[in-house]
Amino acid sequence: MRTLVIVPTYDERESLPVLLDQVRACAPDVDVLVVDDASPDGTGELAERIAADDDRVHVLHRAGKGGLGAAYVAGFGWGLERGYEVLCEMDADGSHRPEELVRLLDRLAADDEPDLVIGSRWVPGGRVVNWPWHRMLLSRAGNTYVRGALGIGVRDATGGYRAFRARTLQAVDLAAVESHGYCFQVDMTWRVLRGGGAVAEVPITFVERTAGVSKMSRSIVAEALTKVTLWGVRHRWSQLRGRSGRS
Ligand code: GDD
Ligand code: MN
Repeated sequence: MRTLVIVPTYDERESLPVLLDQVRACAPDVDVLVVDDASPDGTGELAERIAADDDRVHVLHRAGKGGLGAAYVAGFGWGLERGYEVLCEMDADGSHRPEELVRLLDRLAADDEPDLVIGSRWVPGGRVVNWPWHRMLLSRAGNTYVRGALGIGVRDATGGYRAFRARTLQAVDLAAVESHGYCFQVDMTWRVLRGGGAVAEVPITFVERTAGVSKMSRSIVAEALTKVTLWGVRHRWSQLRGRSGRS
């Protein structure tokens, strides 16, 4: 299946060339789309230079830092227009190891045909290397909260190593996705599940970056907490109304 790996970048000049080399070595058949938000460190120009020598690498430039969610929505649109059958998400900093991509793709192609495969840190066999305790706690507590608030079983709904079928993304109203930060990942999981789609998780080893810095911030956490709570309340409310309407 024609596969596109979308890599959002903001100031990833050191990491991106290493990652692109690894993707080309591990998955020579996939195309890559770098979605750069006008990184001040010149990641966008660097990506252009790499793309000039490799017709499987493409670059989408956006005007400024608009958040992970908006970058992926733009990347999905780019890929769907060009007829890719599978669209993947991968961080630029090496945390999502390219050698594990094949496991996500194999799971997507399995007989039960999941609509979305998440590379999961929090299923048996999954792990995180070199995260400080507070990031570990944030991710574990965040995922526990998401499961409770939305009533879903996904263990790593915030994880950003993913493979979608094109038809899954086509069924989602991408223009309506307004999550800016990392809650975009929960947003997409929730939309797929609510649309009746199946989500599968495969264990991954997430390795914390060694170059550059995380773009995680307090406002990203606040957005996620607010949005997840709102979605959960809305969902419970519509369930209650549905029940009383029937009785
Ligand atoms: N284009 C663009 N615009 N890219 C962005 C932006 C943005 O506003 N913000 C972050 N990125 C890119 C980074 O350059 C990197 O390639 C990727 O998104 C992930 O950003 P990190 O800053 O490295 O994220 P993290 O390691 O702290 O967070 C990880 O865990 C989150 C929570 O579980 C990632 O795996 C996230 O995907 C995940 O949601
Ligand atoms: Mn990272």
